Amino acid sequence: MTDVVSPTALSEVQLRLLCHDDIESVKLLCGDWFPIEYPDSWYQDITSNKKFFSLAATFKGGIVGMIVAEIKGRTKVHKEDGDILASSFPVDTQVAYILSLGVVKEFRKHGIGSLLLDSLKEHISTTALDHCKAVYLHVLTTNANAIHFYENRDFRQHHYLPYYYSIRGVLKDGFTYVLYINGGHPPWTILYPSGGTEARRFWCRTAPGFRTPSGLRAR
Ligand SMILES: CC(C)(COP(=O)(O)OP(=O)(O)OC[C@H]1O[C@@H](n2cnc3c(N)ncnc32)[C@H](O)[C@@H]1OP(=O)(O)O)[C@@H](O)C(=O)NCCC(=O)NCCS
Repeated sequence: MTDVVSPTALSEVQLRLLCHDDIESVKLLCGDWFPIEYPDSWYQDITSNKKFFSLAATFKGGIVGMIVAEIKGRTKVHKEDGDILASSFPVDTQVAYILSLGVVKEFRKHGIGSLLLDSLKEHISTTALDHCKAVYLHVLTTNANAIHFYENRDFRQHHYLPYYYSIRGVLKDGFTYVLYINGGHPPWTILYPSGGTEARRFWCRTAPGFRTPSGLRAR
């Protein structure tokens, strides 16, 4: 990929949905971006299963970023995140889970990550209308760049998930981050400090390393 990216690169970036032919490129990119090995079935799924919103940002025809998300009913939320929404919301309320967001290193800090996130929000507003009340994701506690990115875009730390990831055989902690939209809110027992981002500390009752998000396994 290009060494020096023009400051105006964003104006040349195009968006399109991922397709089956992208699998090999996406595998290489995810290998660069994430310390987690995704099974082949994951790549098949995100490029062909219509339940995923899988959007690529391309520059001169090559993929330089992507976001993968699933809009689903609140009852399909990961067990450990079951309290993202107050129980007063109807069972058909939806949430969006970001499985993946990444931008090629040389293209970072050009607005591509924000463009992808905004496109997801736009997609939510056109498909789920106002039934989708929260956008959430998991992130390694050590991923300071991503945490900064999400916090600057109004995501709030909701859960601390000790030993959530197993990375090359080493257990690592994660956070759940949530962005409330369309009047969504957590149970009133979870109070966010005003102006702050951390909800509360939550210690998982599950056995350490019993799972990783989306059935991922360690490398
Ligand atoms: C997190 C990630 C997706 C952000 O992507 P990105 O394309 O760099 O995001 P953006 O360019 O939109 O925003 C990043 C910063 O660059 C700034 N920026 C955007 N355009 C800019 C420009 N032309 N000049 C200077 N800064 C710019 C943004 O304001 C933002 O800073 P802020 O958060 O302080 O406001 C990217 O760092 C990444 O791929 N990380 C590795 C994968 C990863 O960890 N993903 C998240 C897993 S949960």
